[in-house]
Amino acid sequence: MPPSKLQRFKEFSEYLNVAEVEYRRDSQLQEAEFDSLEKWYAQVDDGRRHYIPFLRDQCGVKFSGRVLELAAGSGWMSAEMSRMPEVTEVFTLDASETLLQEIAPNIFLYLRAQEDKITRVVGDFHRLEFEDESFDLVTVDGGLHHAVCLSAVLAEVFRVLKPGGEHVAIREMITPPLWFKRTSSTRRRLIAAGVTENMYPIKEWRTAFEKAGFSFWARRVNLKTNWLARLNEWLFNGLFHCRYVLLGAKQKGGSIS
Ligand SMILES: C[S@@+](CC[C@H](N)C(=O)[O-])C[C@H]1O[C@@H](n2cnc3c(N)ncnc32)[C@H](O)[C@@H]1O
Repeated sequence: MPPSKLQRFKEFSEYLNVAEVEYRRDSQLQEAEFDSLEKWYAQVDDGRRHYIPFLRDQCGVKFSGRVLELAAGSGWMSAEMSRMPEVTEVFTLDASETLLQEIAPNIFLYLRAQEDKITRVVGDFHRLEFEDESFDLVTVDGGLHHAVCLSAVLAEVFRVLKPGGEHVAIREMITPPLWFKRTSSTRRRLIAAGVTENMYPIKEWRTAFEKAGFSFWARRVNLKTNWLARLNEWLFNGLFHCRYVLLGAKQKGGSIS
């Protein structure tokens, strides 16, 4: 199988958080959670891959054609999408060349990606150097909350999607209605390193998607397999914590503003 290709955007936007790129290059891979490939493989195996059947079967997401994954980091989602016969091309974009060069190729091998379909792109999601209306699907896993300017990113996603295309965001930071402002030690460490960590209530996510031109809907996620955990999630997801899939559809006839 030929290896995935690597491309670079000509320039980053004025919104790029340089401190975050430096953190991913200089410190992240030294931290206890990320200092060996085995730990990256364990993260990929932490249950996040269950999102793929959830998106397809319960959210009606069509994985097909030309797809773009933003803020892809390890690229696990690109790897999964590349194996789908209906997906013809996958662009795996991240601002961190380190992650795309040192981690993603190993994850592609680990997940048996179809690498000849994948192009890794070092670039900034605030300014996408892709043609208008050139993707069927744009996905992101835990990336939009790192945007310095969310409206710029969503406007770009809307621009590069074909009419009828969809934007799917999973594992974003959503402020629950009953939130006691607890901040995890991981989040505190990231903020101290200069990483952008934005958290918005679902209403603000909706407004941001709609302002970009999308029809928006959010779907509560419950991927638990144990019945007690499922019940717990059913009762409390949306109150004390918010695990939602965010979906934006670019309706046919929707215009680029
Ligand atoms: C929480 S990580 C998510 C990574 C990925 N989904 C994974 O599973 O490994 C956030 C990612 O956003 C990327 N990122 C931050 N700002 C970016 C920007 N302006 N453009 C593109 N990627 C960016 C980071 O480099 C990082 O890989």
